[in-house]
Amino acid sequence: MANRSHRNSGLRAMNAMNTAGEKHSSKAAVGAELPTNTRHVVGVGDCLTTLAAIPDNSIQLIICDPPYNIQLADWDSHSNYIDWAKDWLSEAERVLAPTGNIAIFGGLQYQGEAGSGDLLSLISYMRQNSKMLLANLIIWNYPNGMSAQRFFANRHEEVAWFAKSKKYFFDLDAVREPYDEETKKVYMKDKRLNPESVEKGRNPTNVWRMPRLNGNSKERVGHPTQKPAVVIERLVRALSYPGSTVLDFFAGSGVTTRVAIQEGRNSISFDADPIFDEYLTKQLELVSASDLLKTIPKFEIIKGMEHVARLVEIDVKVPQIAEAEQPA
Ligand SMILES: C[S@@+](CC[C@H](N)C(=O)[O-])C[C@H]1O[C@@H](n2cnc3c(N)ncnc32)[C@H](O)[C@@H]1O
Repeated sequence: MANRSHRNSGLRAMNAMNTAGEKHSSKAAVGAELPTNTRHVVGVGDCLTTLAAIPDNSIQLIICDPPYNIQLADWDSHSNYIDWAKDWLSEAERVLAPTGNIAIFGGLQYQGEAGSGDLLSLISYMRQNSKMLLANLIIWNYPNGMSAQRFFANRHEEVAWFAKSKKYFFDLDAVREPYDEETKKVYMKDKRLNPESVEKGRNPTNVWRMPRLNGNSKERVGHPTQKPAVVIERLVRALSYPGSTVLDFFAGSGVTTRVAIQEGRNSISFDADPIFDEYLTKQLELVSASDLLKTIPKFEIIKGMEHVARLVEIDVKVPQIAEAEQPA
């Protein structure tokens, strides 16, 4: 098939800006300074109650890892999945800032199982009912998983990244993968490549090879579907900026709170299951352990839904980001 990248108007616009010596990075618009303090509102609550407490246009990133009706646990059962999901999807769109992003986890392989909830149904609903733009479908490819005899053993899940508008924030530099010295030397001599980009490293692409958490992983806090911190970390680094607010209304094991603390973002994390408190305590112990390796801003844990609006009001700042011609 012909390479059509030269017809991509987004790339053409960015190349023109490059030639004119202008920065097209979102980071240039917001700066990269870590705040001195961050705040993290946490608690037990239904997703719609959490969302109702949040003002319009105030959240930079939503990490959204919903239940999919596959009866993994008591919370994983809805008789009409989309009927339930459409309410939190439209609320999510309302609370996102114009620069905001939502990353929705899921798989495409559960359709037909007990009530038809899967990422495909959410994407298709959003295509028809939302103004958000599908920027990337990220393939999370893991080396570890179940074996299979009647089909190829599954080794991936997907994350659908939707941007609220064409002014979405994206910091590629924060997540580039460094080249090894040998490759860097060769690339530096290649006149077709920009030495500044070679120095910074490669675009990690939309296929992320990262292991799932093993049963005996030190990260595990007891939640059955806990996501590895490295996956959340890449989303937080690329799709939000220091000092902005990250929301997780299906917070599960509390991993988003931990990553937000470590990355200098504010956060709001609620889960309907009261065991969330216990998981969060363990996540905070993991933060103290990681303190030795990395300097992180001072942080405050604030319990209770009534504090949500106050947190968001304090931190609203509106970065001026140029429109992308198209989301990706
Ligand atoms: C797939 S898990 C999230 C896992 C999380 N991302 C992690 O890595 O630990 C989905 C979570 O949604 C929660 N949940 C289910 N229904 C909910 C609702 N109506 N409101 C809020 N949380 C809900 C469940 O308790 C469960 O912890």
